[in-house]
Amino acid sequence: MAYLPSNITLLGTFLVIILFFTNHRITLGFGASNTTDSPAGFLECLTVELQSSNSATSHLIYTPNNSSYATLIQIENQRPAATFPEKPLLIFTPFYEHQIRLAIHCSKKLGVEIRLRSGGHDYEGLSSASEVTFMVVDLRNLRAVKIASNEKTAWVQAGATLGQLYHTLAQKSRTLAFTAGVCPTVGVGGHISGGGYGMMSRKHSLAADNIVDARVMNSDGQILNRRSMGEDLFWAIRGGGGTSFGIVLAFKVNLVTVPETLTVFNVTRTSEQNATQLVHRWQYIADKVDENLLLRLFLRSVTSPVTGNRTVIASFTTLYLGGVQDLLPLMKQQFPELGLVEKDCTEMSWIESVLFFAGLQNKPLDVLLETAPPSRQYFKGKSDYVQEPIPLDGLQGIWRFMHEEDEMGSRLELSPYGGVLNSFSESETPFPHRSGNIFIIEYGVYWHSSKGNNEEQGDQKHIKWMRRLYSYMATYVSKNPRAAYINYRDLDLGMNNNSAGNTTTCYEQARVWGMKYFKNNFQRLVRVKTKVDPTNFFRNEQSIPPYAAISVYSS
Ligand code: FDA
Repeated sequence: MAYLPSNITLLGTFLVIILFFTNHRITLGFGASNTTDSPAGFLECLTVELQSSNSATSHLIYTPNNSSYATLIQIENQRPAATFPEKPLLIFTPFYEHQIRLAIHCSKKLGVEIRLRSGGHDYEGLSSASEVTFMVVDLRNLRAVKIASNEKTAWVQAGATLGQLYHTLAQKSRTLAFTAGVCPTVGVGGHISGGGYGMMSRKHSLAADNIVDARVMNSDGQILNRRSMGEDLFWAIRGGGGTSFGIVLAFKVNLVTVPETLTVFNVTRTSEQNATQLVHRWQYIADKVDENLLLRLFLRSVTSPVTGNRTVIASFTTLYLGGVQDLLPLMKQQFPELGLVEKDCTEMSWIESVLFFAGLQNKPLDVLLETAPPSRQYFKGKSDYVQEPIPLDGLQGIWRFMHEEDEMGSRLELSPYGGVLNSFSESETPFPHRSGNIFIIEYGVYWHSSKGNNEEQGDQKHIKWMRRLYSYMATYVSKNPRAAYINYRDLDLGMNNNSAGNTTTCYEQARVWGMKYFKNNFQRLVRVKTKVDPTNFFRNEQSIPPYAAISVYSS
């Protein structure tokens, strides 16, 4: 893997750009006459381009005729494939940054949309599914992690997973860490572009708040770093969501120092064990406790083996950046109602805590290098921000939804804010959910497809359930706008007009969902988009539109 974000690479890149632009006639913009909806045209274009840049074509291009295509297109969530039946013309898995430029060239030449994929965990599957003809640039082979322990930074390529990043850090040191999400198979490219919340976020904030440089390929195929892209674009890629502004090739991240010994616990309480009162009380302390402490709360509904009735299980899943002897008095002072005792707690290193929260405790470290196994599950997610504690009767109402007979697969994840997250202003990065938020709710419902003759028996039933719950929650969550987290993407909030051949999106249309994800940062994101990608080359059903496209659409 020749990944060297150094002057040598920049010089090489520059030469490749010169050669490329002198040898090839570039068709700028979409609407080229050669629009194709068969793999053949794109395949031919990409093959010719790869050969003329002296790249071997094997292990780079996968069409539906290739046996690996079906595996590569797999994502965790089966629902997007059912919603968007269009399959990619081909999947391109470059090994070198400069090869991506060839896909941009063919995309422009043939008028075929590009989808970018790093880890493939988008909640609506937008990295691998679309309503229009498209191809996928899959960055899985661009996954190098290069750590500079002396300056406590690392360059991480976008196709690396969080697990690969954590694994590499653990090889270097017990106390160097990175603050990002819990699931090891999530990709760096999509995750950091949208924020990236994890178990250390009350102490060290989001992944996106710890980015100090980046390499981005724009729609002209140029590779930019922080200095050459300018502060506007550098601001936009740190929370403005994937896709809209270019292809993130790599992020330079700031690492954090953690204590040698941390403490974890996962205490569960059912309704019969006072779960409702504990959840209610948790809301008064979750964002205010010591910032070394992050108490995440998972809620699900099960049938009690004792009573045979449905009961709520509340799991208080916690990381404390310190030893158990410091944690116990803290918990006694700040959340005595939970009744935490020493035997509930386990001391461990940071990397062991990564395995613990991923449900991989006692597995060898190399499990973090694995990619997500194929799944048959369907999933729908949504999010909400809570700014005032939900009263007891409001919680009881949520339980009634979760106890509905067909919704055993529902899960609520309540993640506390506060701590250092509050020290950022709403506009410092595109991620605006700062001071004033107690916690975020992630609503999730999982099922195995059950399509029957009756629509109500099928997938729609679960999606409708989710929408009913979301509607019920309106009283208890943030308003004007009702905020949402871009990394928990939800197309119910609104979609661009992305039908075939349409590069235009109405600002008012995008503003509906844009204000929810980004509040007033939405306008600045549109301004940045207009500057860096005026032809709307990088787009999907929920990408930031440029102003230029607005005027075309509105006229
Ligand atoms: P994927 O490859 O699907 O990309 C997501 C979006 O970014 C797509 O629109 C894609 O086109 C675009 N994109 C991808 N690579 C890009 C690149 N290099 N340049 C530009 N655009 C690019 N979140 C969180 O904050 N904390 C958490 O703990 C978790 N945990 C979690 C667990 C599980 C099981 C799932 C499915 C999801 C999460 N998430 C999460 C949400 C996660 O952060 C979010 O879905 C990310 O966008 C996933 O990034 P991937 O690269 O994996 O997805």
